[in-house]
Amino acid sequence: MERVVSGIRSTGNLHLGNYFGAIRNFVRMQNDHECFFFIADYHSLTTHPTPNDLHSNVRQVLVEYLAAGIDPEKATLFVQSDVPEVAELTLLLSMNAYVGELERTSSFKEKVRKNPNNVNAGLLTYPVLMAADILIHRATKVPVGKDQEQHLEMCRKYARRFNGLYKTEYFKEPEPFNFGQDLLKIPGLDGTGKMGKSEGNGLFLADSPKQIRKKVMKAVTDSGPTEPNSPVTEPVQNLFTIMDVVSEPGTLQFFQQEYANCTIRYGDLKKQLAEDIVQFVEPIYNRIQELSADSDYLQKIARMGAEKAHESAAKTVKEVREIIGFKKF
Ligand code: TYM
Repeated sequence: MERVVSGIRSTGNLHLGNYFGAIRNFVRMQNDHECFFFIADYHSLTTHPTPNDLHSNVRQVLVEYLAAGIDPEKATLFVQSDVPEVAELTLLLSMNAYVGELERTSSFKEKVRKNPNNVNAGLLTYPVLMAADILIHRATKVPVGKDQEQHLEMCRKYARRFNGLYKTEYFKEPEPFNFGQDLLKIPGLDGTGKMGKSEGNGLFLADSPKQIRKKVMKAVTDSGPTEPNSPVTEPVQNLFTIMDVVSEPGTLQFFQQEYANCTIRYGDLKKQLAEDIVQFVEPIYNRIQELSADSDYLQKIARMGAEKAHESAAKTVKEVREIIGFKKF
């Protein structure tokens, strides 16, 4: 049995990238492994949400986790800030995290480029907090999308350095995980780049069928293949990639063949893709509506998760303190 840890930032609704990159694996892994899934609300503070937005975003992600199939009886589902031990482990790990390498992290460089007026220290140490999230439950597997690969590499490095410094094998090196495959990058509908929460290119689990159809019909394509077997352009490949995760295999093959034959009609491709996405999202969408109204249930789940996660985290922090050499007088 593996120990599995993963999280999602509470910065908005969950999209198909989050689902296929991460949650689909969470749902499968919860049956056979000891799983900890959380809502990364400390991480969301880098963008300074208002107190009201902070809480409503956490609540929304909790609802969507449950609607997408996380079973709180099987997995420990919790809010990161309910387990403040993670902040202490972050501090302890940060002594072995070098500023130069944090500055070279791709996600940090991208944030600096996009928001030069908000280069806060929390952004710089983001990978250390993430490593603490993982190591605090002594995880061995971390189901994530491709964009988290570098963060996982840093986590492994911090685990190694801790072990090396204190001559211990306390932390195992956790591995990024996607069932039998490479980590996934689900593209957006705007023809380029990955699907994101704030890129305006996302399909969300909380989108109604009408919204999904509208977005897919407006997705960027190209002017169509002009020669048989010409290479597929990026915007069309992106739609194929989404089709690959939501549709029957034969559907994708059909449209790929149509493309190769230059007989593809993008209107048909989009209609089919929209219906397949609707079919996938609609039951989740309906559960989101039901769960959103049930504050008592959400409270019960969050408290239960906090207790279980706290127990596991407190044990690790106690042991780490002993390894480091803190002693009570
Ligand atoms: P976040 O909130 O950006 O994304 C949550 C999960 O969804 C995956 N993901 C994608 N996968 C494929 N295609 C996409 N377009 C796509 N967009 C998002 C992400 O890879 C991720 O698995 N730092 C993390 C949250 C976090 C965490 C952790 C994750 C905090 N602590 C500890 C794992 C372990 C983040 O911002 O993910």
